Amino acid sequence: MIKVAVLGYGTVGSGVVEVIETNREFIERRTPEGIGVKYILDLRDFPGDPFESKVVHDFNVILNDDEVAVVCETMGGVGPAYQFTKQALERGKSVCTSNKELVAKHGPELLEIARSHRCNYLFEASVGGGIPIIRPLNSSLTAERVEEITGILNGTTNYILTKMAAEGADFGEVLKEAQEKGYAERNPEADVEGHDACRKIAILASLMTGKYVDSEKVFTEGITKITSADFAYAEAAGYSVKLLGRAKVLGDETLAMVAPFLIPGEHPLATVRDVFNAVYVTGNMLGDSMYYGRGAGKLPTASAVVSDVVDCARHQGKVITCLWDKEEARLADVDESSRAFFVRAKVCARERVAAAFPGGRMFEAPGREEDFGYFTAEMKEREFREKYEALGGDVLGRIRLV
Ligand code: HSE
Repeated sequence: MIKVAVLGYGTVGSGVVEVIETNREFIERRTPEGIGVKYILDLRDFPGDPFESKVVHDFNVILNDDEVAVVCETMGGVGPAYQFTKQALERGKSVCTSNKELVAKHGPELLEIARSHRCNYLFEASVGGGIPIIRPLNSSLTAERVEEITGILNGTTNYILTKMAAEGADFGEVLKEAQEKGYAERNPEADVEGHDACRKIAILASLMTGKYVDSEKVFTEGITKITSADFAYAEAAGYSVKLLGRAKVLGDETLAMVAPFLIPGEHPLATVRDVFNAVYVTGNMLGDSMYYGRGAGKLPTASAVVSDVVDCARHQGKVITCLWDKEEARLADVDESSRAFFVRAKVCARERVAAAFPGGRMFEAPGREEDFGYFTAEMKEREFREKYEALGGDVLGRIRLV
């Protein structure tokens, strides 16, 4: 039996134990040796929990036990999680994680340590929760040159945007309701400011290029400035508003960014609602493909972690190929990228807006009397921003078009 240690008995960690127990029979069909939890590392005790006897407080117990072949790191953060992961890999224990922050920051280094100790560092659960996307990129689309990845990568913000669209409510109202229902964190900054999606697109962009895309250098804009008025125009014009993580190969550079976008209603990503995530991948032979499912939550995320444990069990002593080098990818300057924009402005500014963005079109939405919409022609970010800022208080908001 493959003995597993789970680091962190929180939402995902307890889910990992539950998935292994609930699906024992199915897992054993796929990895006949079977998988069993030997230790659970946590600072707390869990009196009355069925796995109470497996709880340890000292990581060295796990590290020094040669029977432990796989460690599931479900602690989060880049402090002890980083140290424990490194130590485990250096002892030849494979590590499976849901920790996107750690993967985005130290992925290439941890992969290299794993390779040199003939074990694996797997991170299916770090992007898109339970959706298989890392394995498809590493193992299925191996005949492809992946050219573009666009994803709805954060469940909290997709839930908020879906509610705003359905109820015509403003961001603050929906966020408060989502927090009350436990869908949004008490401190929602990482989600609503786009940092969580940024780490995930940085991981996907790294796998697309085989190089290191530093999440701290990825242009990131959240959803806090989107208003119910924007939704009124989006709906009237046949668009959805989605927070997208985007990565695109442009020659020897990679364009990577996170921002709210207007996407046409008929685009498959427009139909992704509530807490669901989806990743839209374009390859040069396959064309478009989409991976869709629950991007967060205890059991979906844990299922992805356990699928990695099964992979480790099947590849003991062998390294599963993952092309992700330490060399930094060259990121394209977002300011130099081109796209069309939607602008919302005060009625009194019609002429000024049309003059600032020649070649665009006015757009009226029913029932809107104090503002109007305007779709610009395709233009560079930098040029758009300069002209938009020069319009001062006359402009009320803007959203990029896909
Ligand atoms: N806060 C994240 C989300 C959790 O809302 O998608 C999963 O990474």
